[in-house]
Amino acid sequence: MFPQLCLRGREGRPWRRRKMRDSRYLSVATALLTLVALKAYIEWTAEQEERYPTPHTAGWPSSSITPLQSSDASSPAFVFQHFNVSLQGLRQSIPRAKAYWNEKQYKNFRALEEGSAANASWNQCSSSDAAEQAGKIKNFGSYSELYKNFILYGDCRNFSLLINQPDKCADAKNGTFLLLAIKSLPRNFAARQAVRDTWGQEGESGGLAVRTVFLLGTAQGRYGPRLQHLVYFESRSFGDILMWDFEDTFFNLTLKDNLFLSWTLDHCQDVRFILKGDDDVFINTPKVLDYLSSLDASKPLYTGQVMANASPFRVQRSKYYVPESFYVGPYPAYAGGGGYIFSGPLARSLHLISQHVAFYPIDDVYTGLCFQALGITPEAHAGFMTFDIAEKDRADPCVHSKLLLVHRRSPQQTLHLWKQIVNPNFKC
Ligand SMILES: *[C@@H]1O[C@H](CO)[C@@H](O)[C@H](O)[C@H]1NC(C)=O
Ligand SMILES: *[C@@H]1O[C@H](CO)[C@@H](O)[C@H](O)[C@H]1NC(C)=O
Ligand SMILES: *[C@@H]1O[C@H](CO)[C@@H](O)[C@H](O)[C@H]1NC(C)=O
Ligand SMILES: *[C@@H]1O[C@H](CO)[C@@H](O)[C@H](O)[C@H]1NC(C)=O
Ligand SMILES: *[C@@H]1O[C@H](CO)[C@@H](O)[C@H](O)[C@H]1NC(C)=O
Repeated sequence: MFPQLCLRGREGRPWRRRKMRDSRYLSVATALLTLVALKAYIEWTAEQEERYPTPHTAGWPSSSITPLQSSDASSPAFVFQHFNVSLQGLRQSIPRAKAYWNEKQYKNFRALEEGSAANASWNQCSSSDAAEQAGKIKNFGSYSELYKNFILYGDCRNFSLLINQPDKCADAKNGTFLLLAIKSLPRNFAARQAVRDTWGQEGESGGLAVRTVFLLGTAQGRYGPRLQHLVYFESRSFGDILMWDFEDTFFNLTLKDNLFLSWTLDHCQDVRFILKGDDDVFINTPKVLDYLSSLDASKPLYTGQVMANASPFRVQRSKYYVPESFYVGPYPAYAGGGGYIFSGPLARSLHLISQHVAFYPIDDVYTGLCFQALGITPEAHAGFMTFDIAEKDRADPCVHSKLLLVHRRSPQQTLHLWKQIVNPNFKC
């Protein structure tokens, strides 16, 4: 059904013709090509890392989604009453240990009990408070730059939106059925184009509207090339970029998630399902739509490849390293961040509860913590393969046609696989 999707026309924006005439755009194109080559080189040299423990099957929530009104969000007393039981569950799973995050979260629990909102410190984003907190970590000096920044700026949650798509969800007659929210980096131009040209194309299929947004911060590093103008250009051409004014680093992905939830409440609040994923996954969108349209939309959904009984990674040179002075305890069951799906109406509850759960540097773990605080356990779906599949199957379209999501594929592999899967003569 997907090949017949009508691409959303962007009439009135004849960008192709303008580009041919204007030499400025030619230099933009040259720069883009250089960046694509650079990206390919970076990907080629990047080391793959062991990330997750073995997946496991968890329960399926049976209760219905309780709709929350936007006015509810301001009252900690409301939160405490509404999520009392599930918050107790979260509390029981976190040891009362002498570690930075544990202590910070216990402060949040106490504040909730007292009916205050942990002094809404994340709105103040005060660096002197953060420095004081950091001073309590005995080996703070040995923390990596990323950790230091995470702690010093970990309470800053308010960043302005530099590029918005305020009408993204406005023109779907029957509401947006599936919003693909894809975490990307400014420099990942080729990955985004491959997504647009394949599984991320926007359209309507059997009354189900699919929309796509790419979630970006600003290019990282004091010495990084300034990509802003290229990203603005890209946004004008395709209308699918959301970019916030924060540095797009690995430990700011939780912040990115949180800003995306705020955006959803402002601009796409009636969306039925949200798929959060990386820009280097392959998604079998037609199969995802079949699966989602078979579900009872009133039940809360949080599904993907479920990591259960996981705990912090203590190997110091890993990207996922968590120092013992930072966090002690197990992780809740969570869906692997390569790609997972949740019900759109949960966005408000998630955003609300996140105001009472301290940011955690690993974004999918943080999402799991917030869902646990809401009393929703992730449901394992065997179609999500965030650690990829057997080597021999990685180019096999038949294997991919039976899955929902695979991590990870290059832009070239994505285009090749997609072309085969949507071919009307494709048979397995
Ligand atoms: C919250 O739950 C705990 C334990 O289940 C109970 O003791 C307490 O009274 C509840 N508080 C509110 C405000 O509902
Ligand atoms: C909130 O701030 C007040 C006054 O600054 C302080 O007494 C109180 O301990 C703080 N509460 C929390 C939970 O940090
Ligand atoms: C967030 O920042 C903007 C300006 O950057 C400000 O107008 C707004 O009040 C801030 N919101 C909160 C909740 O602090
Ligand atoms: C709109 O969505 C509902 C619920 O999915 C569906 O039953 C209905 O057929 C759709 N209407 C149109 C015009 O596609
Ligand atoms: C997150 O972004 C903010 C704002 O750009 C920056 O100050 C901070 O260092 C970043 N945090 C990390 C962990 O990179």
